[in-house]
Amino acid sequence: MLNVVVLVSGGGTNLQAVIDGVESGAVTNTRIAGVISNNAGAYALERARKHGIASKCVSPKMFASREEFNEKLTEAVGEMEPDLIVLAGFLVVIPPIMTAKYQNRIINIHPSLIPAFCGKGYYGLKVHEAALSRGVKVAGATVHFVDDGTDTGPIILQKAVDVEDGDTPEALQRRVMEQAEWKILPRAIDLIANGKVSVTDGRTEIRK
Ligand code: GRF
Repeated sequence: MLNVVVLVSGGGTNLQAVIDGVESGAVTNTRIAGVISNNAGAYALERARKHGIASKCVSPKMFASREEFNEKLTEAVGEMEPDLIVLAGFLVVIPPIMTAKYQNRIINIHPSLIPAFCGKGYYGLKVHEAALSRGVKVAGATVHFVDDGTDTGPIILQKAVDVEDGDTPEALQRRVMEQAEWKILPRAIDLIANGKVSVTDGRTEIRK
């Protein structure tokens, strides 16, 4: 049984997709051990509570320094004994102490087809604004392992969606979430939970 800890910052629709996947049986061999947010007001915490999942807020505002926050975040995650940490819209930089402790055991969902529109400054709606500004015809989402870079770890799954004439950033964001993010994040967790993902030379091998 894969013990999963989900880190969130906002509305939690990706968390909800994972919860629904586990509860429906689509995501097998997996237990959501807890949800942690840096934002006390994150609706994602309410989603966890509604499903009886342990939840906690660990915010940088609670500590005198970023170093102390990093330590407390790592401690809070460790207390939930994760086999896998899932960043589902988590907007805080993961400290090196965590990426070192959980090498290839932290995954992130990014709302573009990496390496497009990723890296520093590309998050949330900004990703879709940049895609529309460039005039791309295909957008999508990526699940990848987290390393010390920003959106640079080994890619696990990707899913493309069409950009439609007249798309606003909000419309494109919604389509990428509905048609890509909410499908590939649960799927990636199920693959990992069943030992079907390995990493060699910075690239994944998926045994579907
Ligand atoms: C999603 O668009 C995700 O791709 C990005 O942050 C957003 C989180 O949304 N990382 P939610 O909190 O899962 O609804």
